[in-house]
Amino acid sequence: MNLKQLVGIESAKYIKDGMTVGLGTGSTAYFMVEEIGRRMKEEGLNIVGVTTSHATEEQARALGIPLKSIDEVDHVDITIDGADEISADYQGTKGGGAALLFEKIVATYSNENIWIVDESKMVEKLGAFPLPVEVIPYGSDQLLRLFTKKELNPKIRTTADGNPLLTDSKNYIIDLYLKEINDPKELATWLDHQVGVVEHGLFLDITTRVIIGTSESGVKTIE
Ligand code: A5P
Repeated sequence: MNLKQLVGIESAKYIKDGMTVGLGTGSTAYFMVEEIGRRMKEEGLNIVGVTTSHATEEQARALGIPLKSIDEVDHVDITIDGADEISADYQGTKGGGAALLFEKIVATYSNENIWIVDESKMVEKLGAFPLPVEVIPYGSDQLLRLFTKKELNPKIRTTADGNPLLTDSKNYIIDLYLKEINDPKELATWLDHQVGVVEHGLFLDITTRVIIGTSESGVKTIE
């Protein structure tokens, strides 16, 4: 079993009957959603899922998981999602799969946020992984110029055909190649204030539990 599968299965143990569960996006969250599908079928587990991307929605529907939109629920009990990097003080970056906007909205209304990662995602400081910023297409070249002026090394994310990638909300992603983020809170606040920025991949003070897959000692859970 690979490490992503290991943590995906482990995380599903926190899900109890009757919960409303935020279903994350990505290659690690994929295994958690599969495990929920298995538990529903084999153990009669009963939950309602709130998905964080069209991709996860498709997977969950195929598994027969009942779904509601974030606007149809009062709150989410627990959200389980992957991450691109988690720092020593448990701040994270997300959005490598371009789903950061829905992921942050669902996480915000969730009582618990579990992140599931393999050990390669655990870092001292954030920043080696490019930081995604979701922007509306109108004015995005101006934002690119602004980010360049601020020495944030921006690059618009493109698809294989060279066109800008469109998110589930039909926005663009600008990736910031920063190498190291010295003050994540300061950068998050600055990004929050730029017109045309819809959301960014800095997920600060959000996670309540991190489940790490390690090749030496298996699953390590930090609460
Ligand atoms: C999706 O946009 C992301 O936030 C993912 O949750 C994150 O990139 C982790 O994905 P993997 O589990 O595929 O590495």
